Amino acid sequence: MKNLIITLCVLFGAGINAQTADVEVDSRLDWFKDAKLGVFIHWGYYGVNGITESWSLYHKKISYEDYMQQGKKFTAANYDPEEWAELFNKIGAQYAIMTTKHHDGVALWDTQLSHLNVVDKTPAKRDLVTPYVNALRNKGLKVGLYYSLCDWSHPDYEVVFPRPNTKKDYPQKGQKQMDTWERFVLFYQGQLKELSSQFNPDLYWFDGDWEKSAEQWRSKALKDSLLSWNPNLIVNSRLNQYGDYRTPEQGIPVVRPDGPWEFCMTMNDNWGYYPSDKNYKPISQIIRTFVEVISNGGNLLLNIGPKPDGTIAKEQLERLESLGTWINKHSDAVFDTTAGLPYGHFYGPSLISKDKKKIYLCLFNNPKNYISLKGLQNKVTSIKVLGTDEELSFERNGGASWKNIPGVLRISIPKDKNLDKYVTVLEVSLENDLELYRGQGHVFRMEKEAMSDFGNLTQLDNGFKGTPNSFTKLSN
Ligand code: GLC
Repeated sequence: MKNLIITLCVLFGAGINAQTADVEVDSRLDWFKDAKLGVFIHWGYYGVNGITESWSLYHKKISYEDYMQQGKKFTAANYDPEEWAELFNKIGAQYAIMTTKHHDGVALWDTQLSHLNVVDKTPAKRDLVTPYVNALRNKGLKVGLYYSLCDWSHPDYEVVFPRPNTKKDYPQKGQKQMDTWERFVLFYQGQLKELSSQFNPDLYWFDGDWEKSAEQWRSKALKDSLLSWNPNLIVNSRLNQYGDYRTPEQGIPVVRPDGPWEFCMTMNDNWGYYPSDKNYKPISQIIRTFVEVISNGGNLLLNIGPKPDGTIAKEQLERLESLGTWINKHSDAVFDTTAGLPYGHFYGPSLISKDKKKIYLCLFNNPKNYISLKGLQNKVTSIKVLGTDEELSFERNGGASWKNIPGVLRISIPKDKNLDKYVTVLEVSLENDLELYRGQGHVFRMEKEAMSDFGNLTQLDNGFKGTPNSFTKLSN
């Protein structure tokens, strides 16, 4: 009996703990799940020569010395984070994430743990993270800090390219006797302590975790410390096994990912400022991608790579602004909505309002004949073309009412002038909370026993005859 009580206590205890943990995770992620759009900012030395961020070192496209020489021209002379924040806010972004330190090891804040920072090494001569954080907060935007766990400059971190001795850049007083990896862990966790205590970010976007195991990074202990400093913090999936949300990159998911997620994408083919890369995605692709991502319950983290002086290239500005114009016109569909209809009801992305009384249908192509919506059990009260005052007529027929299978809702097509240049959105208002028919259509019972009850070939009430494995249309 005593054992039973102990077992029950342990089980209940564990259950309660697990539940509390889930609730905590959920409430930490609340704002993130509703954010829809974030701006990723890759700002670093690499913009000076217009080369690939950090990876040009890894791939030996440039010597370490020449790479670091770029710092001499990293001026931040026209850096105006207030203007950035104003822009991000205007286009509907809810958060931004800036590279505080990429794999190259260059810190954008005044770290005390290495001289490889923009205060000591560049004409900018100042901490660039503080004004960014303040500007975002002034506009009510959430603050994200990108931090590369791998550090290809640190003398205790092994790299695959030739590198001079960098020890002079890393004060390591009293650490001479330490094991090199222990010393590196102390360093990187120390930098994170600096970032947390100075900026208290809402989100850490880690990167480069693939170079070591979770044990080597001490991921669990780090996550515990980060949360003890800010219990509301959220962390992307690249803290080896201890992240809070998934971060697919560049390749858009085809199947709806499980749980909270964010898709990060460049506008051209590079993360940093790379003026010779003109392979920009057209605005239409950026808007479609945004719609596809949010209709699958994710956020788009759209990247910009500011110039070394801190200005944003016109191609990037134009894309941010165009996306913002589209979002502002369709804000009812973008915000206060969740992932759309499951597969099969509508040919295209869709969103559902949080109160479940509206469905937003997104049209990538100009429609023909009529627009159809299948499997909708609700009475529809109106259908509007979002961002215009056009109401669309609709009717429904077909269906199998005796089996509760709704007919197809046929929606008339909007006037040409009301079709959006990029993606048209229809707002379908429902009388009650959304209810969907998700069946396979009514088929006479297919269980083996049922078939043997009625023989092998039976006429079904939907005009099909069936066997357990095949169906053939009856001739009319
Ligand atoms: C990859 C790259 C890195 C880039 C990041 C952004 O991890 O290694 O350079 O910053 O993607 O998602």
